[in-house]
Amino acid sequence: MYKLYLIVFILIFFTGCKKKQTPIGRIPVPNFKKKIDLLPSLINVRYNNKSSGIDSCKKCHSKIYEEWSSSLHSMSTISESFIKGSNNYKFIECMSCHAPLGPELNEQRPKERGFNLHEGITCSSCHVIGNRTLGPIGSNAPHGVKKTSSFLNSTICQSCHQQTYLEWKTSGLQNEGLTCQACHMPTIKRYISNHSKGIYNKKLSTRHTFEIEFKDSLKMNFKMSSLIKNQITLQVENTGSGHDYPTGTYGDNTLFIELKIMDNEQIVFFREEALNARDKTSIKAKEKRNFFYTFRPPKKKSYLMIARAFYSSSNLKEDVKLVEIERYLKFE
Ligand code: HEC
Ligand code: HEC
Ligand code: HEC
Ligand code: HEC
Ligand code: HEC
Repeated sequence: MYKLYLIVFILIFFTGCKKKQTPIGRIPVPNFKKKIDLLPSLINVRYNNKSSGIDSCKKCHSKIYEEWSSSLHSMSTISESFIKGSNNYKFIECMSCHAPLGPELNEQRPKERGFNLHEGITCSSCHVIGNRTLGPIGSNAPHGVKKTSSFLNSTICQSCHQQTYLEWKTSGLQNEGLTCQACHMPTIKRYISNHSKGIYNKKLSTRHTFEIEFKDSLKMNFKMSSLIKNQITLQVENTGSGHDYPTGTYGDNTLFIELKIMDNEQIVFFREEALNARDKTSIKAKEKRNFFYTFRPPKKKSYLMIARAFYSSSNLKEDVKLVEIERYLKFE
């Protein structure tokens, strides 16, 4: 199949280019300056019903494949807690989001795949319905392509990330054009398929690592109350997340906020908050949350206050430090 594709592609490539007369004869010279999308949808890339499509997609989209391989979508059925929680893949309701067949372009949960379960959320889980490849561009690919607007707004993420999607929907960020993809699938101009060079133009492509950009996602500030004696206000603002911070009701994602007050080397005050979606204590998109603390100083003098925030999740090898601020405040 793959060889056949190459042969046909070479044929199309050479016959499709403008012929120029050369001293040697009528050898066609491809016009490399003018890269146009030539390869038509002649070859129907067929999907084996007993495969999730990965092997086939990998051959032509190896960069995207590598990115996807490092993403959590490719690991959605292999964690110990998932295997245990799904009773060793027996609970169908878990498999529908963690090993789905194809995408749902609405709020319904996807259908479970029922085979190759260890491959998790594959290319086909998001891109293939029947024998059709859905995508954002409407390119001239060797497989049928259906340009689908759900790939450019957040709808494609909705069926599985239901709670996060609702949080995002009520955040107002959609009016600013901030879709899930805008933050989790950064764009990069490149050839989309391995054989694109010389045939297709470079296109705006998206990284499939589904990464999280923690930098500048949270801001912190100290305020002293002028009304209540010895009250410290720590203001925490969700500046960079498109939904509740932290989001995710299924995992154990937690945002820790700590306040420490030091007298020279000695800690004289310590409080820690653990915010998460299960307890509904997460900070909403754009929300500024005030935390109030009352500190009774042993002496009337200045103390060093250190506040920090960090993010913890079983998906991460170690906690992510988000912000740390320090300030001397005088207590009467
Ligand atoms: C078929 C269901 C499904 C669809 C569709 C889906 N996801 Fe996911 N996603 C999951 C599951 C399940 C996990 C958790 C995997 C795990 O941790 O084992 C996950 C994890 C993630 C993570 C966490 C990564 C991390 O490092 O913690 C991000 C970010 C993410 N998805 C973003 C998206 C975006 C953006 C879209 C839409 C373009 C999307 N997902 C579509 C099911 C899905
Ligand atoms: C024989 C090679 C080949 C195979 C196999 C292949 N693709 Fe493609 N695909 C292409 C080429 C070529 C393009 C167009 C590239 C361009 O426009 O630069 C493309 C385009 C796409 C696009 C963009 C669609 C759009 O919006 O226009 C998606 C999505 C896609 N492929 C997904 C897949 C998936 C999923 C699989 C596996 C099930 C797969 N492809 C298998 C060669 C292949
Ligand atoms: C403005 C940027 C932005 C937008 C828009 C955005 N996210 Fe996020 N996302 C983040 C940041 C920052 C985090 C880490 C902090 C948090 O959990 O809020 C995150 C975390 C996540 C996680 C991680 C949870 C885990 O298990 O590790 C998932 C899943 C996720 N986002 C999915 C989505 C989906 C789905 C959408 C669209 C409905 C979306 N995000 C929109 C920035 C964004
Ligand atoms: C969780 C859902 C999801 C999975 C899994 C996924 N994709 Fe995508 N893919 C998308 C979305 C969403 C876009 C469009 C992003 C945009 O344009 O903002 C996209 C875009 C593409 C495109 C168009 C060019 C580009 O880079 O934007 C290609 C080609 C593609 N995907 C191939 C693949 C292949 C191959 C795999 C498996 C290795 C895969 N995708 C896995 C959601 C997914
Ligand atoms: C509606 C879709 C959906 C269903 C159904 C679902 N999950 Fe998930 N699961 C997710 C998403 C999305 C994440 C990523 C974190 C988040 O957003 O909460 C996730 C994350 C997880 C995680 C943490 C990451 C990991 O892989 O260790 C575990 C464990 C988990 N799910 C187990 C289960 C079990 C067990 C079931 C069945 C009882 C189940 N899930 C059903 C969507 C789903």
